[in-house]
Amino acid sequence: MGHGVADGAGARPELEAIEVASRDEITALQLERLRWSVRHAYDNVAHYRQSFDLAGVHPDDLRQPDDLARFPLTAKEDLRTNYPFGMFAVPRPQVARIHASSGTTGKPTVVGYTRQDLETWADLIARSIRAAGGRRGDLVHVAYGYGLFTGGLGAHYGAERLGCTVVPVSGGQTERQVRLIEDFRPDLIMVTPSYMLAIGDEFRRLGLDPRRSSLRVGLHGAEPWTEAMRREIEQTFDMQAIDIYGLSEVMGPGVACECVETKDGLHLWEDHFYPEIIDPVTGAVLPDGEYGELVFTSLTKEAMPVIRYRTRDLTRLLPGTARSMRRMEKITGRSDDMLIIRGVNVFPSQIEELLLADRRLSAHYLLELHRKGHLDSLEVVVEARREFAHQDAQARAACARDLGHHIKSMIGISATVRVVDVGAIDRSVGKAVRCIDLRPKE
Ligand code: DLL
Repeated sequence: MGHGVADGAGARPELEAIEVASRDEITALQLERLRWSVRHAYDNVAHYRQSFDLAGVHPDDLRQPDDLARFPLTAKEDLRTNYPFGMFAVPRPQVARIHASSGTTGKPTVVGYTRQDLETWADLIARSIRAAGGRRGDLVHVAYGYGLFTGGLGAHYGAERLGCTVVPVSGGQTERQVRLIEDFRPDLIMVTPSYMLAIGDEFRRLGLDPRRSSLRVGLHGAEPWTEAMRREIEQTFDMQAIDIYGLSEVMGPGVACECVETKDGLHLWEDHFYPEIIDPVTGAVLPDGEYGELVFTSLTKEAMPVIRYRTRDLTRLLPGTARSMRRMEKITGRSDDMLIIRGVNVFPSQIEELLLADRRLSAHYLLELHRKGHLDSLEVVVEARREFAHQDAQARAACARDLGHHIKSMIGISATVRVVDVGAIDRSVGKAVRCIDLRPKE
């Protein structure tokens, strides 16, 4: 792996030197790489040349990491405008692979990787799996979707890089997922948190106990999930559930990952990505510890460098713990997931925390936005837990009322709650759909 193995006091010989380097060493490496990356983008991508020129900044202005704040931000819209290959900084034949994220509207966002970029990606996923407690020789079941989505292939090559035995299952065919877990006895699984729970339900439907499966660790990401959801997964499978983060535009999965020994937020792999937190409204850079929108500058990407890319993900930066590199707090929402209901800002994750606190309710839920007259209203549709599914209508209504009260007192909005049968809500095999907007279009 890129940086050799830490010899140090021999305390953690399995780690790369950079994972336990001093802050000064990390900052020095970042500065050197930032200067390269900003220059590479300026010299080879028309969009960056124009936007830097327009803002009156030049790669030579970057003398210390803080100078980056003078450079313009980049948004998803810039990638769409330059669809499909306009953001590439190398001639197309040097692009070894292309991925794309579909998004909900408009053109997909296209991303490209050189051979070297793919090497780096595999290294960083390998590092992430190791942080999660995976080791060479482990059997890894990959249930992220294969294809244009970065989840499947990203996880796949990283697990191979670590020296694992990889089972490329992809998403879907849930009964088969269970059979393969029973028969192949994987140590690790890589899958979205919502689909992990759907697999848990399928175990039970087949009369099997998920707690007796061979799984030791799950690496879950690609969608927001709460601490309550983590407890649910860990209890269901009697395993560690670890958070892994990333986005296609910046690389894919493996931009940041939790360490199993601390589970206190995700260490950002700062030798390849430079994070900033900005005020999402003014764009001003905020100090570590303050909440805002996460912004990334890639430090080593060749095919598609990104300079100050706005993720829309809301979090804050925290100092390193299990590793020297800084952490980001678990992401519980995106600015575009935020619902505004009668003036109150609500994230689906806040509702998830509350409904999972009720032992009668499951983690399968859907938020429906309606409009009655001029007023928006929220309906929470949630499945009963299997153990409580036999309850009569009265008991269900009481359960719905209880959750409604909690939402009112904790979040401050009135929501109607409907408790439905097990299986009434469609299971997504990748990212869960948590919210549907049924308000009439203007
Ligand atoms: O979802 C990459 C990925 C695959 C990450 C597998 C982890 C595991 P995109 O499809 O481009 O890429 O979506 C990126 O998903 O901006 C976040 O809003 C959200 N997201 C990804 N990981 C997490 C996470 C992949 N651990 C978008 N927690 C990001 C919360 C996450 N949200």
